[in-house]
Amino acid sequence: MSDLLHPTATDPRGLIFITSSAFADMDAWHATAAELRREAPILRVEADGWTPFWAVTRHADVFEVSRRSDVFWNTVRSAPGPDLTYDMLEALGIDPPRTLVHLHGEVHNKYRAVTNDWFKPAAVKHLQAAIDAIADEFADRLVELDGRCDLATDIAVPFTIRVIMSIFGVPERDERTMLELTQGLFGAADPEYLGDFTDPFDLITSNIKKFEAYFDQLTADRRAYPTDDLATVIANGEVDGAPLGDIERLWYYIIVATAGHDTTSYALSGGFEQLLRHPDQLAALQADPALAHPAAEEMIRWTSPVRSFFRWAQEDVELGGTTIAEGDVVLTSYPSANRDEAVFERPDEFDIHRPDADKLLSFGLGMHYCLGAQVARREVRTMLAKVLARVDTIELDGEPEWSGAHFVSGVKHLPVRYTLR
Ligand code: HEM
Repeated sequence: MSDLLHPTATDPRGLIFITSSAFADMDAWHATAAELRREAPILRVEADGWTPFWAVTRHADVFEVSRRSDVFWNTVRSAPGPDLTYDMLEALGIDPPRTLVHLHGEVHNKYRAVTNDWFKPAAVKHLQAAIDAIADEFADRLVELDGRCDLATDIAVPFTIRVIMSIFGVPERDERTMLELTQGLFGAADPEYLGDFTDPFDLITSNIKKFEAYFDQLTADRRAYPTDDLATVIANGEVDGAPLGDIERLWYYIIVATAGHDTTSYALSGGFEQLLRHPDQLAALQADPALAHPAAEEMIRWTSPVRSFFRWAQEDVELGGTTIAEGDVVLTSYPSANRDEAVFERPDEFDIHRPDADKLLSFGLGMHYCLGAQVARREVRTMLAKVLARVDTIELDGEPEWSGAHFVSGVKHLPVRYTLR
């Protein structure tokens, strides 16, 4: 989307954060980000069509912005995007988004509390059996696929979407609809996901309407027939003793549906890509499945599928030696923070044995810390172990392809060939 606007900036390096195609070449992207961490770690970016912002690239500063939620607030414009996206929604009379990432303070806490228990580590532990069963089903596809497949579209994407569906408690037959809707919302900048639409704004608005129709029906059903699934929790959720408003409930469904699978599938596909490029680490994992745990952390650090969020300063504040003025916008660059040489040893080396992977900021930090982090971690390590338990050899079968999107992106096609055990 941002590519269409031909943005200009005071320092052209600042464009890497908002130019969709820049995320399709992550080696070049990381080289520029490393330069910025050294030379301009808090960079003022002024680009046509975008509210000017400060790009924050060092680990310590992304950490500080996330921790200081008293100063750096989430707002309706938390998801980085050109102003036109928001202006269009407003012009079309569509309410601004009200998901957890768009709310702040007490209101955010109250809304987060609706599902917080559901995502606590103890509750998520109970999902393991379901995640195992779904992972087995997709890993078994390797047998049918007969030695060659696209590990992204044949396994990672459908696996992660089915886990989210099972968490919601909605039937498998609705998966295709869900995939089209979420890729339409988050992947609209990538031509592969545009389908018949030529106008990305049209795509987004029509997708929101489809989401609405779908989830209204789900809400009615779970109110009439409550179960123990997440849809029941959201459909019957209350804030201050009253049911969630229609808009708030819809956005709640949307945040879980959208945040929950693209992100995780990119962690899997991009992480697998690295394993295939490091046969020694692949062999170590095959010899010792317990390594799936640290390997999953490294895959999530390395891929960092959520590229950034915006935060809005509520007062003048010092950040890494720069004064951020009240009203200014800062962009938290998670992929850059995850490669900060001040925190990670040899940050540009993929290493499943690294002792510092737990410093990753891929899930953010503080009051907006990823609600689904424990689910995502379980998904990545489970699928990793299941695939490796089935294959004897596995290698790249062509060049991977990357999605170009500035908000959530990663490896979208990962051709592999393999032999089974
Ligand atoms: C590897 C996979 C994932 C990554 C990299 C990721 C990353 C993130 C990031 C960076 C944030 C914002 C954190 C902040 O502002 O400090 C976030 C928030 C969120 N994520 Fe994830 N996520 C992943 C998977 C999931 C899954 C599987 C779910 C749901 C099942 C989920 C649900 C959410 C929700 C609901 C929020 C909003 C939390 C809030 O604002 O209070 N995410 N995620």
